[in-house]
Amino acid sequence: MKVLCVTGGCGFIGSNFIRLMLAGHPGLSILNLDKLTYAGNPENLADIENNSRYAFARGDIADRAFLEEALSRGPVDAVVNFAAESHVDRSILDSGPFVRTNVVGTQVLMDVCRELKIGRFVQVSTDEVYGSLGPDGLFTEDTPLAPNSPYSASKTAGDLLVRAYHHTFGFPAVITRCSNNYGPYQFPEKIIPLFISNALAGQSLPVYGQGLNVRDWIHVEDHCRGVEAALLKGRAGEVYNFGGRCELTNIELTRTLLRLLGKPESLIRHVTDRPGHDLRYAIDCSKAERELGWSPRISFADGLKSTIDWYLGHGEWVEHIRSGEYAKYYEQQYGGRL
Ligand code: NAD
Ligand code: DAU
Repeated sequence: MKVLCVTGGCGFIGSNFIRLMLAGHPGLSILNLDKLTYAGNPENLADIENNSRYAFARGDIADRAFLEEALSRGPVDAVVNFAAESHVDRSILDSGPFVRTNVVGTQVLMDVCRELKIGRFVQVSTDEVYGSLGPDGLFTEDTPLAPNSPYSASKTAGDLLVRAYHHTFGFPAVITRCSNNYGPYQFPEKIIPLFISNALAGQSLPVYGQGLNVRDWIHVEDHCRGVEAALLKGRAGEVYNFGGRCELTNIELTRTLLRLLGKPESLIRHVTDRPGHDLRYAIDCSKAERELGWSPRISFADGLKSTIDWYLGHGEWVEHIRSGEYAKYYEQQYGGRL
């Protein structure tokens, strides 16, 4: 593989993935296609934007003409689709952009990949397609899909379209479903970066309901290595789960963050619960371990500590987002070519 297209590469996981792939594959070039929504931040890749093996084009995966032009500039061997509307709470306020990007965008992207005969496609799906677990059990790749939020329903629709394109057209796609990621460059609307930045600013931490919902935390680098393994070794038509084997209630997570930051528990504020809030996610990732030779490597203790250190050392990055300044970055760098 010489040229890889990554969609949504200016977001949290996509930017970590691009950095990992450039560092680990010296012969590989990457084309990043990103619409730069509120969640797309070119500052996430400021350190590699002058790398001769990296190129960026701004555009929408639901825009067929844009994709045909961008993907025809040179031979592209594979596409990894990270582009999505990714925040559950926003999908509850307005599901329109979620259907447009996560469903229509996935369909248009696959149609253009078929037209251009691109030989490999990875759909970055999510464990939320499985719905919610009770106190016991784990999601396997065979767990029936039962999404509960507009976000997860739109991701499930995209995921099933990928499955159908493989079944109907032999489309060379692999699907990954991962649990909750944390790590550097995560947009501070998701619980860990939001709570770190609020605590540092002396603001309250809004815990939904009693904080008894459980998430299975995985460091973004472990997820990115999983996507890399699925891209290089996954069998077309297969689904691979990734998870961190680290289940925590939100209140345990919140207390741990406050302790590590040296901040008081009086900052915790219990607020109205998220409507339809999934109780528990927990992943069985033994198939990926068996078939891809992958396993999570970063313990939560180490990963959380390094993540907190990263946010402590990147106050300007957080401040640019909180103030809206980050949206101006690309224009300043490239003289308004967007
Ligand atoms: P993110 O919101 O940080 O980034 C999404 C990126 O996609 C942004 O750069 C945004 O500008 C871009 N984008 C949005 N709509 C687009 C469009 N129509 N065309 C082109 N680009 C567009 O999201 P993330 O947390 O990095 O998640 C990346 C992917 O991983 C998503 O598909 C998400 O569903 C999946 N996922 C996330 C997690 C998690 O814990 N964050 C876990 C499992 C799976
Ligand atoms: O499981 C994978 C999914 O994880 C991904 O597919 C999504 O893209 C990603 O956003 C994430 O979804 P969650 O809804 O689990 O993540 P979030 O950080 O929004 O919330 C984590 C938990 O924390 C959830 O139980 C809700 C709770 N929460 C969240 C926020 C933002 C709070 O209690 N307070 C908050 O302010």
